[in-house]
Parts: sequence; C-alpha cells; structure tokens
Amino acid sequence: EKSTLKVCITGAGGQISYSLLYMICDGKMFGKDQPVTLTLLEIPVVLDVVKGVILELEDCGLHLLKSAIATADPREAFDKVDVVLMVGAFPRKEGMERAELLQRNAGIFKDHGAIINDIAKKEVKVLVVGNPANTNCLIASTLAPSIAKKNFSCLTRLDHNRAVAQTAAKLGIPTCDVKKITIWGNHSNTQFPDLAHGEVNVGGVKKPALIALSDDAWANGEFITTVQTRGAAIIKARKLSSAMSAAQAICDHMRDWYFGTMDDNWVSMGVCSDGNPYGIPDGLIFSFPVRIKNGTWEFVPGLTFSDFARGKLDVTVKELMEEKSVAFEFLGVK
Ligand code: NAI
Repeated sequence: EKSTLKVCITGAGGQISYSLLYMICDGKMFGKDQPVTLTLLEIPVVLDVVKGVILELEDCGLHLLKSAIATADPREAFDKVDVVLMVGAFPRKEGMERAELLQRNAGIFKDHGAIINDIAKKEVKVLVVGNPANTNCLIASTLAPSIAKKNFSCLTRLDHNRAVAQTAAKLGIPTCDVKKITIWGNHSNTQFPDLAHGEVNVGGVKKPALIALSDDAWANGEFITTVQTRGAAIIKARKLSSAMSAAQAICDHMRDWYFGTMDDNWVSMGVCSDGNPYGIPDGLIFSFPVRIKNGTWEFVPGLTFSDFARGKLDVTVKELMEEKSVAFEFLGVK
C-alpha cells in the first residue's frame, strides 16, 4: 500500500470544503489507491461544524481516509503536511471594499505562510483558493522562503473549466474535445480568458477553436465577459458562491499537479511569474498556461499575442501590481 499523504484543508467548515472533502476521500484528487490523513483547520467558532463533517465522512465509509482531525491551531494543522489546500479566508461582506478584504486576508495568509515555512514538509505543495487568491498566495509564499516558489499556486482552474465549458457548449461538443484554452492573470474580473491558441475536435476533425467558432465577436466579447462574471452570476442565482464547481476545480488542479498533463493540452494555474517567457513582471502570482511532468509545472512557451490580447494582459498585470503593493505595504514586507 502507498504511504499515507498528509493533507491540510483550511476553512474546512465552509461551503467549498463540504463538497471537496468527499472528493478527496473518494480518490478523485490523488487516485483510488492513495490513503490520506486530513487535518482540518477552522476558526474556533466553526470547529463544531468541522467535527460534524468528520462524522459524516466516517459514515461515508471511504477506505482511503485513514484519520481526520479538526483543529483551530495552525501549528497542529500544518505539521509535516504534504499538501495544503488554503480554502479558508475572510468572506467579502456587503459594501466591503476590495482593499479591506485584501488587508483582512493578508493577515491570515501571512500567519499561515510563516507556519508552513516552519513545520510543513519542504516539498509541500500549496494551493490557495481563498480570495483574493493570487495575492494571498503571493503573501503565503513570501512568508515561506524555505519552500520553493514553484510549490505555491493559486486556483484559476475554475475559470479555465468555465472557459472550456462555454466553448464546448457554443460548438455543441463535449468538453474533452476542447484543448489549449488559457486563463491569464488574476482570478478576478480582469482575468483574460484566451481562445486564440485553442484547439477543438468537431465531428472527428481537429481545428483551431477560432476557425471552428467563426465568431470573433463572441470570442473577443461575450465569451470573455461570461467567464469573467460567472462567479457573480452564480452568487446572484444561488445566493451563495460556487462551491461544487470550485471543489471539482481544486481536484482537477491537484490531480494534474501530481499526475501531470497530456502532451496535446495544458492547464491554467496561478503561479510565480519569475522568469516567464511573456514579459509579465517577476514577483507576481499570475495565471499562465502550464504543462506538468513529475509533479513540476513549466510555462508553455512560444505563444504569440494580438494587440487585443496584449491590452487585456496589461489590465490584469496592473491590477495584480496594485494588489501586491496594498498587501505588502499593509504587511510591511518589501
Ligand atoms: P465559506 O465562507 O463557506 O468558508 C470559508 C471558511 O473559512 C469559513 O468557514 C471560515 O470560518 C474559514 N476561515 C476564515 N478564517 C480562517 C482562518 N484564519 N483559518 C481557518 N479557517 C478560516 O467560503 P467558501 O464558499 O468555502 O469559499 C472559500 C474561499 O474561496 C472564499 O474566499 C471564496 O471567495 C474563495 N473562492 C475562490 C475560488 C477560486 O476560483 N479561486 C472559487 C470559489 C471561491
């Protein structure tokens, strides 16, 4: 039997975790033969909720789950962990400015990053989901200098999956026949969902996505805004943010990080921009197209941009630079 993987989930009493925990223990993230132990971190007032979720997990009888604990102590939660899924964050309240949300969360990710630095395994893989995800990830990584920057990522896979789903629906094809779609930049409404390098298979014939669609107005307009504002559309309808699809995207992200991507496709991940081939400034967590082998991601090289695309990239770069300066000023980090 494989040795047990130690996985920490923060915000374990929240909505996303409620969908996510079952998927992990059912083998959708690390495979059907990978046992896991879970350390579930919450704030003290939510600990009982997590204990209730653990009772449910027991009742599901999932053989991959070796043990699960609920804790409000990050030092217990991050001790010698192999994987951290940072889902917990302070939620955006009605009327709250983005800067205020940023500062509230900067404090959490600073503390957690520093503790991960001290006590997690050095080869730990960290995925930040809590918003603002890119900047929270940058903060955690900055406070964890003993862990490689490549081991920190943030979730833009939900946006990626949305972009694939929109394209597939427009062409009336299954999502597995849509490849090489990219989300660039921030997980916010400045993100740039990019179809320009996309490839599709329609009725057994492979084609560039833009040729198959033959609707540039849609590709450069409605497609982009639909993906950018999908989260808001779900909140409006459900009165709660996307949780099931976020959990699915977290599983997709981690599974691909562990098991790799196919040669004829790539995925979008928020990763450290240092040394990227596209002129994005270093020192950001930016969503790029990446390929993964042996647990290590690499930038997809050689893509070209139209002026339209360059303009979109500039907007999301600017927003991330601003978020970084607000967060780092607040933290007193250089
Ligand atoms: P939720 O509010 O249901 O759950 C968040 C949980 O985090 C709460 O139970 C809260 O008590 C906990 N928490 C807060 N501070 C904590 C701390 N210091 N330590 C441990 N736990 C803490 O929210 P939900 O729906 O589960 O979403 C979680 C986060 O993910 C939100 O920030 C949301 O905006 C973000 N999100 C990101 C997506 C992405 O694609 N990157 C997609 C969907 C949501």
